[in-house]
Amino acid sequence: MRRGRRKFDDDDLTFQKRGGPGPQLKEDPDLPDTGDGWSTWDGALHGPVPRPDWVRTEHAAVDTELGMLKTGKEADVYLVRREVPDTDKVSMLAAKRYRDGDHRLFHRDAGYLEGRRVRRSREMRAMTNRTSFGKEMIAGQWAMAEFGALTHLWQVGLESGLVRVPYPVQLIGTELMMEFIGDWETGEAAPRLAQVRADPDQLADLWRQMADALSVLARAQVAHGDLSPYNTMVHEGRLVLIDLPQIVDVVANPQGGDFIARDVRNVSAWFTQRGLKVDADELLERLLYEAGLK
Ligand SMILES: Nc1ncnc2c1ncn2[C@@H]1O[C@H](COP(=O)(O)OP(=O)(O)O)[C@@H](O)[C@H]1O
Ligand SMILES: [Mg+2]
Repeated sequence: MRRGRRKFDDDDLTFQKRGGPGPQLKEDPDLPDTGDGWSTWDGALHGPVPRPDWVRTEHAAVDTELGMLKTGKEADVYLVRREVPDTDKVSMLAAKRYRDGDHRLFHRDAGYLEGRRVRRSREMRAMTNRTSFGKEMIAGQWAMAEFGALTHLWQVGLESGLVRVPYPVQLIGTELMMEFIGDWETGEAAPRLAQVRADPDQLADLWRQMADALSVLARAQVAHGDLSPYNTMVHEGRLVLIDLPQIVDVVANPQGGDFIARDVRNVSAWFTQRGLKVDADELLERLLYEAGLK
């Protein structure tokens, strides 16, 4: 890992190396000799099994925060290396930390909370009154919703081979840690689809992958809910869908078909702008059929 500021992506993603703990911290007997702290794996909710073999479950593993990947409206994403010191057992993780402050988009919360039963009324009051406890709970629910969506779609991806999402490693409160999509040696994140310059053949291939992924989602009766060229990464020629906290159950939700239509519109518009002829209407018809909505 090179030091100092480095380009992460071709726009706003810059790599900022943190100072790291000072020498006095290093003398704390509870801290490991290297890294920022022990791996938080033990106290976390774990991702689906079978686990990829790169997932570090060892007690001796340490975490090192390498910098911020992206700061967003609702969450900040950090790059974390988890490794067993003096071995080649290394994994690179993206830690998505949901904000519990006032900067988040509460309109998403309103729709989301409607459909959800929160039994303990103290918690319901806290959420509707937006106390700091309530805000943290809402942030935790978003993290949990995304963890659940990634878990589901990871398994769908294993069975179908046609949709890829980052493997969800663990969840603790408002922090979701997942597979880092990018170069594990340099720490450079994969580009988002929006930033990719593809020739006509590559463009056609990416569209085929997108149509396949949408088809698999439809057959699983879900819509991404916020699909766009910004929430799609391209890693080694393959599409990887990210940012899934608002995944929609298209059967339970009366607007399910509209969510599918919006996802299709958002991505097909990008391909059309790039000069590829795509038939979005035909794809939508097929997806609605596959989802059992027509
Ligand atoms: N698993 C990941 N691997 C690499 N980069 C990621 C990963 N997840 C998110 N990112 C980066 O962080 C950005 C924001 O993540 P996203 O999940 O879209 O959150 P939001 O849009 O709500 O801020 C992404 O556009 C991408 O650049
Ligand atoms: Mg996003």
